[in-house]
Amino acid sequence: MKKNLFILLLLATAVSLRAAVSIVPKPDKCVEKRGHFTIDNKTVICLSGDNEEMRNAVSFFNDLFRTAAGYPLEVTGHLRSNNVIRCQLTPSLASDEAYKLNVSPSSIRIEAKSAKGVFYALQSVRQLLPAAIESDKKVADDVKWTVPCVLVDDAPQFSYRGVMLDVSRHFIPKEDMKRHIDLLAFHKLNTLHWHLTDDQGWRIEIKKYPKLTQKGAYRPKTVKGYMWDNPTEWDTNRYGGFYTQEDIREIVAYASKRFIEVIPEIEMPGHSVAPLTAYPQYSCSGGPFEVEGRWGVFNDIYCTKEITFNFLQDVLDEVVELFPSRFIHLGGDEAPRVRWKNCVHCQQRMKDEGLKNEAELQTYFMNRIESYLSGKGKDIIGWDEILEGGVPQGAVVMSWRGEKGGIQAADAGYDVIMSPNIYMYFNCHQSKTQKRIGMNKRIISLEKVYNYHPVPEVLPKEKAKHIKGVQANLWTEYLVSREDMEYMLYPRVAALSEVGWTPKQQKDYIGFCNRLENIRKHYDVLGVNYYQE
Ligand code: ACM
Ligand code: ZN
Repeated sequence: MKKNLFILLLLATAVSLRAAVSIVPKPDKCVEKRGHFTIDNKTVICLSGDNEEMRNAVSFFNDLFRTAAGYPLEVTGHLRSNNVIRCQLTPSLASDEAYKLNVSPSSIRIEAKSAKGVFYALQSVRQLLPAAIESDKKVADDVKWTVPCVLVDDAPQFSYRGVMLDVSRHFIPKEDMKRHIDLLAFHKLNTLHWHLTDDQGWRIEIKKYPKLTQKGAYRPKTVKGYMWDNPTEWDTNRYGGFYTQEDIREIVAYASKRFIEVIPEIEMPGHSVAPLTAYPQYSCSGGPFEVEGRWGVFNDIYCTKEITFNFLQDVLDEVVELFPSRFIHLGGDEAPRVRWKNCVHCQQRMKDEGLKNEAELQTYFMNRIESYLSGKGKDIIGWDEILEGGVPQGAVVMSWRGEKGGIQAADAGYDVIMSPNIYMYFNCHQSKTQKRIGMNKRIISLEKVYNYHPVPEVLPKEKAKHIKGVQANLWTEYLVSREDMEYMLYPRVAALSEVGWTPKQQKDYIGFCNRLENIRKHYDVLGVNYYQE
């Protein structure tokens, strides 16, 4: 009997210990210790390198305290040994995203190679604090800001950990964009792929071509309910919106402060009915067009005549100025080539360039834009269709039609982001019983997302290194509000974060679900409209 009691006690301790340290994504190494550190209004954040980047890395953490605890923590360059959160740069660490965290009863010590690592260490500390730290107003004075003692040595597996947000089908206002960015940072994701243009709306102000937003940002009507319902019903309210260049700068800077790079996607040659409505002269037929209110793939795409390239280069001149990211995403997916087949300009282009078919004409198209951007120091990303007529030089391939394109590209020596639609399309439902949104009833459960590994087994090691990371995509045809979008994103983004961060051999779905209980408490205080079984 005594022995049983002892085992029970042991188990209870193990369970409570496990519950105490619940970091998502799961750290590479994490050892729990006895005791805890308590943050109070005398705790000081001490920076070994007191500069703007380091101050920025700790500022979000201090904002949490200012709001929830009612006091900010003093930030100083002067060393203290007690009641201190000490952040130190250690150049010998492996990557600029790596960090070490040592929580003891007298101090929290953070080591990182860069300010980004310090930021990630503090995201871990945030998750170890009572969830009340997420409160948007001051909580009761008797809440103790305790952090369990722990030793963490952590670094991500993949350098690209992203989410794509589609703001064309439904627009995401600026303040909501910031909230999405905050939540991505909470999960240590580092890339926001911003799908800014599509058939249903052009969302980025371009000064040289004002009609892109005056006309192209608004559609006169939108299909109601399921697109293939018969007969089609229309919502005849004009729908749209766009970001001014000032908005874009503000959002990019906001993300950058949270160590998230924003990659803009300017779709070409397909998914371009909205810009062609504004400027039909860049199509094959000359139009007229109407910004699409249906979902799908449409035949009117950019023509390959010279004036189109001039137009796109002008647009990209302004885009490049707004986005410091290394990459510009050019889309390239779902471009029917039927208009090109029947266009004198496109056929002449093929003759002049010695191109055998329209697939090669698309490669010519992408190559021209790629070399233009390369002259501006930018690399391109394209959906896997860009492989069809030969890959444009220097392109990174985003594999969405399963992993096939990614495997082919990695094999040919191109870098790859894995974003296969059977695992990483978060517009698909999470379960049979979830609130029904949209027509895509394919189910991608939390567990399915969690168990995805972005490096296909068929790739030998020397090719596998081309898999740079993983991305989830949120297409918003049927997602209208921030609540809808959060419902589809969370908690799957938590699983995604572990796919991108945690070594495969450390992943464990049951353990993840246990740790997720703590993350849900944080979501609750943040008011995240996450999906629950
Ligand atoms: C895509 O889903 N068309 C990239
Ligand atoms: Zn044409």
